[in-house]
Amino acid sequence: MSSVIKLRGKGVSRIINSKVILSPLSGVTDKIFRKLVRKWAPDSLLFTEMINATSLKNGYGTQKVQQIELEEGPIGVQIFDNRPFAVSEAAKLAEDSGAFLIDINMGCPVKKISKKGGGSALINDRLLAVELVKRVSKAVKIPVTVKTRLGWENKEENIEEFLISLQESGAAMITLHGRTRKEGFSGKSDWNMIGRIKKLLEIPLIANGDIKNPNDALNCFKVTNADGLMIGRGILGSPWKIGEIDYAIKELKGFKEPNIEEKLLLIIEHLDELTKEKGNHGLLLARKHISWTCKNFQGASNLRNKLVRAIDIKEVKALIKNTIKTLNNDQKILD
Ligand SMILES: Cc1cc2nc3c(=O)[nH]c(=O)nc-3n(C[C@H](O)[C@H](O)[C@H](O)COP(=O)(O)O)c2cc1C
Repeated sequence: MSSVIKLRGKGVSRIINSKVILSPLSGVTDKIFRKLVRKWAPDSLLFTEMINATSLKNGYGTQKVQQIELEEGPIGVQIFDNRPFAVSEAAKLAEDSGAFLIDINMGCPVKKISKKGGGSALINDRLLAVELVKRVSKAVKIPVTVKTRLGWENKEENIEEFLISLQESGAAMITLHGRTRKEGFSGKSDWNMIGRIKKLLEIPLIANGDIKNPNDALNCFKVTNADGLMIGRGILGSPWKIGEIDYAIKELKGFKEPNIEEKLLLIIEHLDELTKEKGNHGLLLARKHISWTCKNFQGASNLRNKLVRAIDIKEVKALIKNTIKTLNNDQKILD
């Protein structure tokens, strides 16, 4: 199996040296989190959180794409909005900041976004969706891609025809989450349907939904024959997971999952970076990451409860250092 994704839109030819992609995850995949993921995944395409086209023009959104060119490896910027001019302008700003590609969000089920015609609402406004891809592809030189779902209400909405029209409009790659908008996160991602759709497209199709570990990844490839995989919830608390899955796909041996001490030190590293950037607010932002990472070892739940209640970074560090002292040699870094 090849270990690269070849983007193949109109006039576009670019290679990503890994078949595993980090999902755009709102509230998670900021530049600090991406830096952690990158330690284990040098080749993968990583995404920003979804960014509203208008906010990219003012302070908040701009911060999210600033200095992407200084980050290692390819970074995709995901934009949500339904106004072709606004998305094109935002795409140009993201391109100037060093984005590897622009992804248009056509899958987000959140009401606040779909009510205004963005995200998954574009599945129902196919002419506008096609117009968006055409206009943004003209506005930038980098590839334009789409992330969407299997349908709005149900799977009988001829999503295949929709995806083919996006391909004809210039989309260089499509990511398909194997659920409808109505399903949200319920049920299972329909890899069989993704596999059927894969056969109809010429551009790369990325399978998404319920891929959490190397086993899932290899199974998903078998079922879908997709050109790549996108990992969302599997990365929460496990920033090494993209790298681990990439290792398995490339049939490399010897991936070393961080041991307990390394996971605890990762919490400190993440917290340090967040507070450097955001001051005390960094501690609040770190809490969800702490809860996701501090699990699956003896005493984890007790420690987690204390860590998320800690009032400052000093207390977090003291709690973690005291825990590390109690670990046995198998759980520690020995070199
Ligand atoms: C916390 C969270 C934030 C998300 N934010 C985005 C987003 O900004 N853009 C997007 O296209 N999808 C977003 N998603 C959806 C994921 O990218 C992905 O499609 C979905 O979680 C299914 O993949 P998974 O089973 O690997 O999690 C989000 C999902 C979660 C759980």
